Amino acid sequence: MPDTFLWGSASAAYQIEGAAQEAGKGISNWDEFVKIPGKTFKESTGEVAVDHYHRYKEDVALMAEMGLQTYRFSIAWARIFPKGHGEVNLEGVQFYTELIDECLKYGIEPMVTLYHWDIPQALVEEYGGWESPKVVEDFVHYATFLFNQFKGKVKYWITINEQNIFTTFGWLTAMHPPGKFDDEKMYYQVNHHVFLAHAKSVLAFKEIMPEGKIGASFAYSPSYALNSDPIHAMAKMDFDNLKNFWWMDVYAYGRYPKNAYHYLEQKGVAPIVTEADQTILKQAAALIDFMGVNYYQTSVAEYNPIDGVGPYGEMNTTGKKGTGQVTGIPGLYKNPTNTHLKTTDWDWVIDPSGLRYACKEITSRYDLPIVISENGLGAFDTLTDTQEIHDAYRIEYLSKHIEELMKASEEGCEIWAYCTWSFTDLLSWLNGYQKRYGFVYVDRDEVGGSLNRYKKDSYYWYKEVIETNGQSI
Ligand code: NOJ
Repeated sequence: MPDTFLWGSASAAYQIEGAAQEAGKGISNWDEFVKIPGKTFKESTGEVAVDHYHRYKEDVALMAEMGLQTYRFSIAWARIFPKGHGEVNLEGVQFYTELIDECLKYGIEPMVTLYHWDIPQALVEEYGGWESPKVVEDFVHYATFLFNQFKGKVKYWITINEQNIFTTFGWLTAMHPPGKFDDEKMYYQVNHHVFLAHAKSVLAFKEIMPEGKIGASFAYSPSYALNSDPIHAMAKMDFDNLKNFWWMDVYAYGRYPKNAYHYLEQKGVAPIVTEADQTILKQAAALIDFMGVNYYQTSVAEYNPIDGVGPYGEMNTTGKKGTGQVTGIPGLYKNPTNTHLKTTDWDWVIDPSGLRYACKEITSRYDLPIVISENGLGAFDTLTDTQEIHDAYRIEYLSKHIEELMKASEEGCEIWAYCTWSFTDLLSWLNGYQKRYGFVYVDRDEVGGSLNRYKKDSYYWYKEVIETNGQSI
């Protein structure tokens, strides 16, 4: 990979920090949501998580020993502004200052995500959180505070993590807070507010830090048509417009894909977009520096008859190994499982070439540099009696994805960074602590544990990948 390329790894505040009610932090939507019985696997919560708040020095030292070049983490909005706005919590600012300084001490480039799904609960109670346009101003205020605070230290910023996922799970499938089901009109309106919050933050950023780099991270699942029957090619196009380009086009072009907007307008659920909104979205789109991509799997698009399968399968939020259900939009598409591919312990298809496909699609369609902000394998890991973790399956998964990333780079994609998900094991929002992604095993389950850290085989493997700039693969 090019000299400036960064080998990294990623995390998110709620999934690692713990200290949920310490040091002046306000309560977040997730702190509240997980209290609802049955929402998470064995009622697991992020109350303690993997205690990164107290062990960040140990974690960053492990990163340094590995040779990590960038560490992507998120800031908990409620740690900075416990009520979402108003008085700032200096202890929260202090924590992130120390974390950033600790990274810099070892030459690790910090990459900061402003929003990784945890909004202050106070804003939800005050005006419905993301449901109200009021959130835009509060988010921009929060973002601007951080830009000013950390300018000169943090160069890479990600505004929003996986907008498509947190809004889908929050307002369509009820799996994430606020737990609304099938509220399509609000879903699109919420998304519009998030886009505006992102866009206005980008404009503020470029005033404060013109030399910094900013973008959003999108959960991109490229799609393949079931076969060459034109009916499936059309299904693929509709899927992409509604499920991928709906977000990426706004980030990169500042506008919604026209056919998708038309479809939603006819259905009566399209968001209200004013001329002023359009201007802001376009201005921000011209200023973003990269497209952040969280890549896990691809989709298949198949024509779905008008009386065909609907968007929601049976809800299964606890201990699930993937829903395995075919869902779709009647009259447009459905997404069957790709029979050519193997799947993970959680039934996610494994498709390394999909990462290359994603990079090439973004390069051709948007001509933007790419930051792979997440890619990784969720699996059951076992700690042996000698305190080792033999995760050859993770090494294989990551090797194959990195090979494809290198091919994409050779084919003309400008890729700035690759962050695996995740550095340490962490809380998997709904699946507790059993679904592990890290290079570093953390001894804990839904009940508790020593919280000791153990290096997995993949830790040593990635160290070598970094040392050899990928040549060891
Ligand atoms: C993407 C999300 O950003 C992250 O928080 C989550 O844990 C991983 N996907 C794995 O599901």
